[in-house]
Amino acid sequence: METKKFEEIQKEMDADLKDVEELKVLEDLRIKYLGKKGLITELNSEIKNVPNEEKKEFGMKVNELRNRFNEFYDSVKEELDRAELNKRLESEAIDISLPATKIPVGAPHILEKVIEEVEELFLSMGYDVVDGPEIEEDKYNFEMLNIPKGHPARDAQDTFYIEGEEILLRSQTSPVQVRTMLKGEGKVPIRMICPGKTYRRDDDDASHSHQFMQIEGLLVDKNISLSDLKGTMDILFKRLFGKDVETRFRPSYYQFTEPSVEVDITCVNCHGKGCNVCKHTGWVTVVGAGVVHPNVLRMSGYDPEVWSGFAFGFGAERLAMMKYDINDIRTFYNADLREAKVFDREDEE
Ligand code: DAH
Repeated sequence: METKKFEEIQKEMDADLKDVEELKVLEDLRIKYLGKKGLITELNSEIKNVPNEEKKEFGMKVNELRNRFNEFYDSVKEELDRAELNKRLESEAIDISLPATKIPVGAPHILEKVIEEVEELFLSMGYDVVDGPEIEEDKYNFEMLNIPKGHPARDAQDTFYIEGEEILLRSQTSPVQVRTMLKGEGKVPIRMICPGKTYRRDDDDASHSHQFMQIEGLLVDKNISLSDLKGTMDILFKRLFGKDVETRFRPSYYQFTEPSVEVDITCVNCHGKGCNVCKHTGWVTVVGAGVVHPNVLRMSGYDPEVWSGFAFGFGAERLAMMKYDINDIRTFYNADLREAKVFDREDEE
């Protein structure tokens, strides 16, 4: 009887094991033969009903069956596993010849770049880069710069008022001169530049913006004269525009400097030959500057009999426009990424 059973199971197994092509089928077969109630498992448990003298042979036969199944199971499983892995590798293959997706990388604003260049230069000459409030007091923005209430110079710097007539959006970065000197408490040297936003009640057009960037500079020490300022301006503009650029002073008037000058540089566009940009003069005005007025020094706690200094202020947009050949100041503020990209690329070349 047992022999018959053996043969039956063996036959069935041979048939079952013929074309197994799926892991799921293989697993079902394992359960069918070797699971808790599997055919081989059950056969094995019948050993207790087998007469003693046949037990050994019976056991061997069951083992043989089990081994056959296991051998088959192992080899087919390995084959199917490998086939499945290959299939997955194929379907998940990465085509390394495809061009990579470009990840857009941010870049500093052009204005920021110009400012950073100026900062780097002045830092290398021992200056500090300082900050001041954009919401400023009339006292610092005008009065302590020698521009008392009612002074006509205020008309040129009409700004936005926050509270009454005393709190305003600064119309220039010059108040930071005063703040720096007050903080300096009479100590020298003072060497600072202050880049920052300024505001004026101008109607926006190609050359005006109600908000713009200025860079202020102040140096206070002993025996400071216009020639120190001249040397500093020379270094600044040669650094920004190249060795061939020349600087010249023209007399001017500011309330907080005496004497005051306008700093011109040779036109970057035509190298001084004369063109539309420089109105055929070969020169463009880029900075307002001068020797710090005694009243300003005195009001900020520096004795003008002992100390002297120079100060300067310029618009960052103006320089950036010249450097990058931009003819509309609104370019900086309309947040058009296409423009930013063009300048970015030009800079890399
Ligand atoms: N604050 C002036 C302006 O906005 C520019 C200026 C002129 C700054 C002369 C200075 C200076 O420090 O000495 O027009």
